[in-house]
Amino acid sequence: MAALIIFLIGLGIYMSQFLSKEAPNRLDIYNLHKSLGALALGAVFIRIINRGIFKSPELPNSLPKIEKIGAKSAHFVLYILMIAVPLSGYLMSNSFGYPVNFFGHNLPNMIEPNEKLSHLFHELHEILPYVMLGVIALHIAGAVKHRFFDKAENDVLKRML
Ligand code: HEM
Ligand code: HEM
Repeated sequence: MAALIIFLIGLGIYMSQFLSKEAPNRLDIYNLHKSLGALALGAVFIRIINRGIFKSPELPNSLPKIEKIGAKSAHFVLYILMIAVPLSGYLMSNSFGYPVNFFGHNLPNMIEPNEKLSHLFHELHEILPYVMLGVIALHIAGAVKHRFFDKAENDVLKRML
């Protein structure tokens, strides 16, 4: 999911900032973003159920309390964003009157076309992915810090891998 989400942020930035409005493959690229985004939305629910059943191991006791709180808050915010980012994209498409195409098949619409809501969801899907990018950067910086600039028992990256 990490690879998928980082790829989707890159693809989203490419689509909205660099891709020409006349590009012949514009629709295919948008549909690829929507398909992979819908996949991420489905996957996060499986991930949350899985986490509820199996729990995740406690963080190492050697970590200072403040770092434990920092890590857990970042993980919590990442879970919220893993739902809010693709959901805002889905609702944006539906409220503009477009279906969400999933690798060639249209998924059911969650809401009817609605101009006011379309602006709101567009705004949300413009801001939230960048908030997510910021939290991901902090999250990766944390993993790198514990790997290279910390005691061996704080190497959470090894646990995750
Ligand atoms: C984890 C999943 C997703 C991530 C990380 C993501 C990320 C992004 C980013 C970074 C942008 C560019 C924002 C901007 O600068 O304006 C974007 C645009 C867009 N996304 Fe997503 N997205 C995700 C899921 C979805 C889904 C599920 C849909 C629809 C079903 C969707 C539809 C769109 C559309 C249509 C745009 C272009 C908006 C425009 O042209 O202004 N995205 N996305
Ligand atoms: C290449 C980039 C990434 C690295 C190196 C990385 C590293 C890690 C590490 C080391 C942990 C484990 C902490 C522990 O031992 O408990 C972790 C957990 C986590 N990561 Fe990442 N991560 C990356 C990308 C992402 C992305 C893109 C997301 C989502 C947007 C994400 C979401 C999470 C979440 C939610 C957890 C907590 C899992 C749980 O215990 O429920 N990570 N990550």
